[in-house]
Amino acid sequence: MRVIIKKDYDECSKWAADFVAYKIKRFHPTAEKSFVLGLPTGSTPLGMYHNLIKQNQAGKVSFENVVTFNMDEYIGLPPEHPQSYHYFMKENFFKHINIQQKNIHIPNGMTRDFEKECQDYETAIKKCGGVNLFIGGIGTDGHIAFNEPGSSLTSRTRIKTLRLDTIKSNARFFDNDMTRVPKTALTVGIGTIMDAEEVMIIATGKNKAEAIKHGIEGSVSHMWPISILQMHQHGIIVCDEEAVSLLQPETVNYFKEIENRTL
Ligand code: PGA
Repeated sequence: MRVIIKKDYDECSKWAADFVAYKIKRFHPTAEKSFVLGLPTGSTPLGMYHNLIKQNQAGKVSFENVVTFNMDEYIGLPPEHPQSYHYFMKENFFKHINIQQKNIHIPNGMTRDFEKECQDYETAIKKCGGVNLFIGGIGTDGHIAFNEPGSSLTSRTRIKTLRLDTIKSNARFFDNDMTRVPKTALTVGIGTIMDAEEVMIIATGKNKAEAIKHGIEGSVSHMWPISILQMHQHGIIVCDEEAVSLLQPETVNYFKEIENRTL
């Protein structure tokens, strides 16, 4: 696992955006062979999206032949609902870049047939040849996408009931009214994420420090879903100084030394 430790949120966002742009450019995507990105919502990736938009508008990276699969969507929120992830992605990323609408995939939380939707989502990912780079954030409890503690570490796209903590935390986006927060969501599974060629998780701020400690220094456990990244051949965690504040100093020094080595 690579652990990239940056000073603060802005530096993490820039590093993550540069990494995504580098990966896309190095792949040389074409209409026949697209680069496939897995994408998150949440407050963490906003800075990365902002940087990628700037690079796209400056002609430094193109999304024309990039296919995207979002991690999750609430059940029961229509795409035009300001708190739906469809809306979030359109407003914060897609409408600002040269991506083709047909290349965008987000689970349909308005479907009547959840099982079919989930199966079709997995099939669509496979048809594209799998995800080249899955990007994610983490929850304070170590969740990735809506895979909360206790989720199967080999889970696939499915319907999940959200934990009370997650509902409480997300109430800030619903006028602090917990009753308005959807209680279920469609989410890719941990197995779906782990199938990607490469996985990059971004974690910033003190409130992520405990999850980062369990994810990097703890054992692999379904109680801290982020810890599964230890089993990935190409896992990267991008975090700031606050997020690594509960790690042993030796752990921090080790990862910093490896990344900064110029020999
Ligand atoms: P955040 O959410 O980026 O808003 O902290 C991350 C998550 O819950 O996965």
